[in-house]
Amino acid sequence: MARVEDKVALVTGAGSGLGRSSAVRLAEEGARVVVTDLNAEGGAETVAQITAAGGEAFFLQHNVAEEEEWLSVLAEVEKRYGQLDILVNNAGVFLVKPIATTSLEEFRWQNSINVEGVFLGIKYGIELMEKSGGGSIVNISSIAGLVGTAVSPAYCGSKGAVRLLTKGCAMECAQKRNKIRINSIHPGGMLTPMLEEGMKALGGGDKVRKGFENMAPIGHLGEALDIANGVVYLASEEAKYITGAELVIDGGITAA
Ligand SMILES: NC(=O)c1ccc[n+]([C@@H]2O[C@H](COP(=O)([O-])OP(=O)(O)OC[C@H]3O[C@@H](n4cnc5c(N)ncnc54)[C@H](O)[C@@H]3O)[C@@H](O)[C@H]2O)c1
Repeated sequence: MARVEDKVALVTGAGSGLGRSSAVRLAEEGARVVVTDLNAEGGAETVAQITAAGGEAFFLQHNVAEEEEWLSVLAEVEKRYGQLDILVNNAGVFLVKPIATTSLEEFRWQNSINVEGVFLGIKYGIELMEKSGGGSIVNISSIAGLVGTAVSPAYCGSKGAVRLLTKGCAMECAQKRNKIRINSIHPGGMLTPMLEEGMKALGGGDKVRKGFENMAPIGHLGEALDIANGVVYLASEEAKYITGAELVIDGGITAA
């Protein structure tokens, strides 16, 4: 029996990096996966990867910062499957900038995706999950939601918000006994297009890369699959007693 057999999973930002890997792993473990992203090309590639391996997936273009788009995406999921069991709020953006040069517009833009996008996903995801008897929501925060990082202070603010939004909503669901668990994952430096872009913004080159690699006591960067495996665990019944928790997958960075 696969670990999330016949579950319906929606993964946001699944056209790249951690989202793509999570979508692929969930499909490998038996889920029917709704791949959403702003980027249609990346989303189609993820779907192709899943279907080529014999899995089931389809793509919906989706800006997580837009309430109307959440409503239409979830209406489509309900129409097709009549249920939602797993929601991975993964889409995010990474602003690498000192606070003094971060404009209010940039701050709001980042929060509209990293925080408001997660808020909307939880709010409307719960509604559909309740109709189908419960589920698991996994929010992708960051180690930058646990500790401060000098290169991206505004990003820390957004990821810290995801951490406690997760816990608050998890407690509300627990109190309602609606069988919905909500947890956060806190990746360290994982090799994805986002991290590559972040390293470029810091000047790029071997020195910057080594700096990121050496940050982890384990001695190297993580890969998307390390996060995807955490997503599968929290999404599955193996984690049935886990809610409001934070799963840190960072090669030991925040333990040091
Ligand atoms: N890579 C890392 O080292 C790292 C570390 C900690 C946390 N994270 C978090 O993990 C998540 C995934 O990051 P990644 O490294 O895979 O990045 P990525 O840039 O490779 O992928 C992010 C995806 O999100 C999509 N996206 C961006 N804005 C969107 C929007 N408004 N609506 C829908 N989709 C949108 C992009 O098109 C892209 O496909 C993010 O929330 C990020 O903050 C990443």
